[in-house]
Amino acid sequence: MNLIIAANWKMHKTRAETADFCRALLGDLDYFEGVEVLICPPFTALSAAADHIGGSALKLGAQNMHWEQEGAFTGEIAGPMLMELGVEYVIIGHSERRHIMGEDNRQIRLKLEAALENGLKPILCVGETEAQREEGSTTGVIKDQLIAALEGLPPEKTGSLVVAYEPVWAIGTGKAARPEDADEACSLIRDVIGEILGSGPAEKVPIQYGGSVKEANIGSFVKLASIQGALVGGASLEADSFSALIRAARKAVQS
Ligand code: 13P
Repeated sequence: MNLIIAANWKMHKTRAETADFCRALLGDLDYFEGVEVLICPPFTALSAAADHIGGSALKLGAQNMHWEQEGAFTGEIAGPMLMELGVEYVIIGHSERRHIMGEDNRQIRLKLEAALENGLKPILCVGETEAQREEGSTTGVIKDQLIAALEGLPPEKTGSLVVAYEPVWAIGTGKAARPEDADEACSLIRDVIGEILGSGPAEKVPIQYGGSVKEANIGSFVKLASIQGALVGGASLEADSFSALIRAARKAVQS
């Protein structure tokens, strides 16, 4: 399975900054070999990114979507609008949407189904807060999030699913999870997906780790058998640091 390394830019970068980043990253294509690399700019910069990455190995993702195909939902963006721009992936249920915007498991389920129906590859984010980890409910939280998102889906329709384990306390803090903790959580995630969808489909789901990933630590995550990539925030904002991180990941899995 190829690694999938995704840049989640969150609310960063204008169209002009996006174009600059794409030009810089695409200046050196060889490091994409064996790694699927995607950028997830804000909605307003998706078309600028699409214009600059067309025909290259770099893929495009969105950070969110609405579950309806169209309608009276002021400020929302629908699946067909993303497909029209050449978007291939969509992040669903990022912790900033869960905890800052108040998205709940029911909405995340609807978004996941809409992504699959539109032919978008969902990157479903799950993960516990610091308080939940401290009180010992990490396993229960991750299970609940996965069950709410996936239970009852026809396994044959989930072939494009990606899951990202992003412990909330590791996001933007510089305090990445210990590889052994990420390993335990990602192994649990695959087991739970297996219980829900069956072990065959579960084996095919790429599981990413996210939370303070950078060049110096990505190798310790992607060399684990339980992890097939990373969802990267801060370290994906500069083409230099992002390409260094991609190279480090490739080196770790090849060694
Ligand atoms: P950081 O890499 O900045 O911790 O962000 C992680 C993240 O939230 C990616 O979706």
